[in-house]
Amino acid sequence: MIYAKIMHHIERQIEAGTLKPGSKLPSIRSLSETFGCSNNTVIKAYSELEKKHLIYTVPKSGFYIVENMYPRNADAAINPVVDFLSAGPDKSIMPFRDYQHCINQAIEIYKEDMFTYSDKQGLYSLRSELARHLQDLQVFTVPERICIVSGSQQALHLFVSLPFPNGKHDICVEQPTHRSLIESIKLQGTKTFGVGITHEGIDLNHLESLFKRNTIKFFYTVSRFHNPTGFSYSNAQKRKIVELAQKYDVYIIEDDYMGDLDTNLKQDPMFAYDPSGRVIYTKSFSKVMLPGLRLGLAVVPDSMKDQFLRTKFASDLHTPVLTQGALEIYLKSGMYAAHILRMREIYSRKAELLQEAYRAHLPAEVTYSGSMSGFYSTISLPGRLKAKNLVDHLRKQQVLVDDVRGMFLPEFERDTMIRLSVSQVDEALIHTGIRLIASEITKLQLNKWDVKFV
Ligand SMILES: Cc1ncc(COP(=O)(O)O)c(C=O)c1O
Repeated sequence: MIYAKIMHHIERQIEAGTLKPGSKLPSIRSLSETFGCSNNTVIKAYSELEKKHLIYTVPKSGFYIVENMYPRNADAAINPVVDFLSAGPDKSIMPFRDYQHCINQAIEIYKEDMFTYSDKQGLYSLRSELARHLQDLQVFTVPERICIVSGSQQALHLFVSLPFPNGKHDICVEQPTHRSLIESIKLQGTKTFGVGITHEGIDLNHLESLFKRNTIKFFYTVSRFHNPTGFSYSNAQKRKIVELAQKYDVYIIEDDYMGDLDTNLKQDPMFAYDPSGRVIYTKSFSKVMLPGLRLGLAVVPDSMKDQFLRTKFASDLHTPVLTQGALEIYLKSGMYAAHILRMREIYSRKAELLQEAYRAHLPAEVTYSGSMSGFYSTISLPGRLKAKNLVDHLRKQQVLVDDVRGMFLPEFERDTMIRLSVSQVDEALIHTGIRLIASEITKLQLNKWDVKFV
């Protein structure tokens, strides 16, 4: 196969350092002349190399070698860092060049409006576009209820402090849960109840008793690709949770931060089971796109909108308008949809590889979570092994993982779980990383290291 020959030729040049990270590859036409083949054969070779994250495309410019693909020093080449810690999107596929184009377009179209004070709720034209986009996620709403926020974290932080129409004050969260939400709760000193989450979800009877016995204003839930466990509720579980919220007059904040990555298009958000305002839906553009943009949205009930926007106005007047204008164009042009299709493919492949590696290498007594897409999963340690201890030992082996202590409320805190994010780990290193984790766990179990007992 000529395309395989072309791939081999380029891979060898990358390894030898003849093709340096960031450098441009020969054009399709010139390579087809060199190899005496059709343009399609070269395109096939380039697209296979792209799938292996060795090269990337810049539209209208060409193909480039991925940065930092091969470690620079000899030691790192033998023992590359396996980074299960970084939780941002895969840097090699961040669409920043496309976004640059959209920023330029936004300035051309909206001119100085991209640089003046703007609507505290967000650009109306963007909200209209988002209302259309949200339909693909089974969220049917109107632009008037969508509030653009400076990252979905801003909305979560505001909801922790805002009064709710049910007149209640406390919060209920899954345990563990998203670290920044725990930070908001701690900073604002809000009384909070936790409900444990496992790879099967939460105990609905426990949730009901918490709703019944306490004055809970909202239940915060990450309904798919939960952070840190990767768990996604079934539609039946989501419907049941919404019913409980209706019965006990509790609001739900549904954080759908990675919803776009779901390859199972039959999954409904909780919002679909009660679009009246009982379920407040939040969406982020960080994990699926560019976290530095700090763009997110919340679908806020009419009864809370004024108060929500007043509080947001007091904190930052409005979310930067240039990136909003660019997002509108990014969505309208179809670039977002194309990008998401690519991301789904990449992350579901990585998630499957990770689950395969867990099954192949982890000792039988170690349990793990995760799904067939998204970024996150957890490994629960057996016996009296401490996560912090394992994290430190793994760092010496160049394997980075997160211990999840900061993701628990103080009364739940546990040091027996590590979180792995697969987003920035090269596919070729997933099995290597899990093998090293498995071997460190075994060593610690055999008490070869300084295991600290509780
Ligand atoms: C559960 C969850 N929600 C939301 C976010 C993203 O928030 P933002 O849109 O503010 O970047 C994260 C990021 O880590 C997260 O883990």
